[in-house]
Amino acid sequence: MKIAVINGPNLNMLGRREARHYGSLTLAEINERLQELAHGLGLELSFFQSNHEGELVEALQRAGQEAEGVVLNAGAYTHTSVAMRDAVACCGAPVVEVHLSNPQAREEFRRVSLLAEVCQGSVAGFGWRSYALALWWFAQEGSRSA
Ligand code: DQA
Repeated sequence: MKIAVINGPNLNMLGRREARHYGSLTLAEINERLQELAHGLGLELSFFQSNHEGELVEALQRAGQEAEGVVLNAGAYTHTSVAMRDAVACCGAPVVEVHLSNPQAREEFRRVSLLAEVCQGSVAGFGWRSYALALWWFAQEGSRSA
């Protein structure tokens, strides 16, 4: 089962960015951990990160063609981007929204996700393990429908 892991703006800054919210791992270190986990779960991962909304929309469109699922941390676009919401809604693959921090426990403007309604589900507040939990769901779901 192929899963696209897509990260949005400023997630390339992990490791140097507000560790109290996002932890101390870099994105490369998180991806390494996910790769190891995916191996054990029988998932094949691809990774993409961009700070640009249009590139993220295109990555979601591609993922709909090339993958059977998407793990998406849209960063701040979670709270602002109708374009990304529409891309999630039409990409054709189930999308799990993930966040390192728990946006519900932070500033008011982070409490709204424009994406949640069109995602399969959301995992937030567990650091890099939010991604791991999303992968675990895909592995369960994949073996259930096999
Ligand atoms: C985030 C939460 C967002 O509110 C924030 O803009 C991010 C990271 C998270 O992973 O906790 O960039 O998506």
